[in-house]
Amino acid sequence: MTRPFVQLRAHGVGIVIDTPDGGLPRVLHWGEDLGALSDADLEALGRGVSRQTAPGTLDAAWHLSLSPQESDGWTGRPGMQLRRDGVLHHPRWVESASQAENAAFVLTARDEASALVLEIRIAIEAGGVVWTDAALRHDGGPGAPAVEVEWLESTLPVPSTTSNLTTFDGRWSREKRPVTIGMPPGSTARQTRRGRGGHDHPMMFIASEGEPRWGDGRVWGVHLAWSSDSTYRIDRVSDAVTVLGTGELLRPGELVLEPGDEYAAPRAAFVFSEEGLDGLSGRVHRWLRARDVHPRTARPLTLNTWEAVYFDHRPAELIALAELAASAGIERFVLDDGWFLGRRDDTTSLGDWVIDRSVWPDGLAPLAERVHELGMEFGLWFEPEMVSLDSDLARAHPEWLLHNRAHVEAGDPALSWRSQYVLDLADAGAYAHVLGQIDALVAELGIDFIKWDHNRDLVESVHDRRPGLHAQMLAVYALMAELKSRHRGLEIESCSSGGARTDLGVMAICDRVWASDSNDPVERQDIQRWTGLLLPPELVGAHVGPTESHSSGRTTDLSYRMATSLMGSAGFEWDISGCDDAELATITSFAGLYKELRPLLHSARVVHPDIRDAAWRVTGYVADDSAAAVYIVATVAAHEDARVERLRLGGLDAERRYRVRVRREIGEARGSWIVPEWFSAGEITLPGSALARVGLQLPALWPMQAFVLHATAV
Ligand code: GLA
Repeated sequence: MTRPFVQLRAHGVGIVIDTPDGGLPRVLHWGEDLGALSDADLEALGRGVSRQTAPGTLDAAWHLSLSPQESDGWTGRPGMQLRRDGVLHHPRWVESASQAENAAFVLTARDEASALVLEIRIAIEAGGVVWTDAALRHDGGPGAPAVEVEWLESTLPVPSTTSNLTTFDGRWSREKRPVTIGMPPGSTARQTRRGRGGHDHPMMFIASEGEPRWGDGRVWGVHLAWSSDSTYRIDRVSDAVTVLGTGELLRPGELVLEPGDEYAAPRAAFVFSEEGLDGLSGRVHRWLRARDVHPRTARPLTLNTWEAVYFDHRPAELIALAELAASAGIERFVLDDGWFLGRRDDTTSLGDWVIDRSVWPDGLAPLAERVHELGMEFGLWFEPEMVSLDSDLARAHPEWLLHNRAHVEAGDPALSWRSQYVLDLADAGAYAHVLGQIDALVAELGIDFIKWDHNRDLVESVHDRRPGLHAQMLAVYALMAELKSRHRGLEIESCSSGGARTDLGVMAICDRVWASDSNDPVERQDIQRWTGLLLPPELVGAHVGPTESHSSGRTTDLSYRMATSLMGSAGFEWDISGCDDAELATITSFAGLYKELRPLLHSARVVHPDIRDAAWRVTGYVADDSAAAVYIVATVAAHEDARVERLRLGGLDAERRYRVRVRREIGEARGSWIVPEWFSAGEITLPGSALARVGLQLPALWPMQAFVLHATAV
């Protein structure tokens, strides 16, 4: 039965919950593990942080409940908002059960007036990530009034010593731009209304003491495992603790609970670290890697045809490209957009997932078979949530559009995007159509990998005369899961005009994200760095693009593009049949290097050693036992100083000696002609203590150069 205080402890994280007699429990602490506290100590801790008399405030509770509301004396954004008969409803929760075991706390409470039952679960899972689940069920009998859920968000308190807020912004081909501001006063919410995370997805709200640093400092972050509209929030109100939270953004009238109905809110991940942002991402990576569904096979070196041929599909040339790819060591061949009925450009055919025989007279089987024969996996591009008006599907079923039909018929340009519309997958007929077509192709061709694209926002989505975003998202997750369960081993990449859908909701099902449509390695250094805050390198697609980037026009060395690709699930998006012999030889040696290093890169702790000059980007991948590490060292601009900094190799074991090699399989990094002795020799052996504390003199490089350092304990 209920104890007055509950202590959850796991993986260096601690939570203390006070379960008072009336109302919902309150969290007194979320952060460091405090060690096992006795009941008396917990009770004293409760007194230690108890209410002081503050003039000019309500007589209500000092500590906020798990779902802060006005009756807590809370003037910030409520944890949930409910409406009955069109009128705001203030619940009075009475706890009916609570239980704490295995670092998890589950609470059930009931509000008599509305007959709603609330269940909240807080659990410290692998890596120390605190996951919250919240659900509302209408427990009333037939005829009881319906209750609209306007929102049901998860919140946890953070110390009021936090002084900065970090979140993310972006645009197409420049995703995950970090923005750090001073802690804003009052209630601050950022909301996405795109029906996908979007290129400007907040990704996280991170509260930190001072500006966040990579390797140290206390940070508290939150992320919502949901791929559609969401709210990220922080409340710094002067008469209460600071509250961090997130939840699904529901549209008015979207979610109405009738008796018997239930709403399970998307899960929210709360991550605390005293080791800065690297500590925070380390916890999320450990959580992801502990899942049963985490990809465990070696991440194949991929060739994707998009920037190689775009819509210009010629079977013989593509088969020859696959053969060349295989001979260079590539392991997965992905045919991108342009293979289906009438799809000669991006204005038609979405929804008709049938091979275009005018382009592929013998179908795709000859290509798929050749790819398999060559020992590679075969991947194919789909955009299952979309429909072009110029398609057999839209002509046969205009009622399957997830938009107001009258507006579509009137040619309302606000609804069109890349000439395409959204298919209402919550409609059983539309769902069955898409599932049937994709399923047939996966079976027929032995597709190993689907690049699942989603190239537009959802606008004025209506399903069954209600806002249709929530239902659409659940249908999409179900469709992905159904395909994976029908085809063992099938992998899915989440792409959305690049990285507009890279959240932990879609990653509960998918195996990889496409981080960005920018293959410019300079942009990628930052896009991948910040995508990596959530996702470990094995889940982030990172390809070597053409010499001159198609998204920026910038020309970069092959070594730079390859070093940047090594930072993720590597591959190519380039017509390598136009490469000369020297380039092909480098591609082959890069393939060997990737295969050698990926067991380390894809299981490593990711670190960002301190470096002062903003021209450098250094990312380290350190083995769990610190026996080896890889550092990708890159410049994104000209150095400030003539004599550049030393690089201290973070993460190494001070007690061991390491042989550090410059891995030249990707070619040379170019710069001034006098380089440090160790760099021209290509290797050096030193104690970990010296590498970590004194560091290695970096060579002065030109802008946009990169090299790979590989440290192994000797
Ligand atoms: C989106 C994707 C690209 C490519 C094209 C195809 O833009 O992000 O990688 O697949 O669609 O149309």
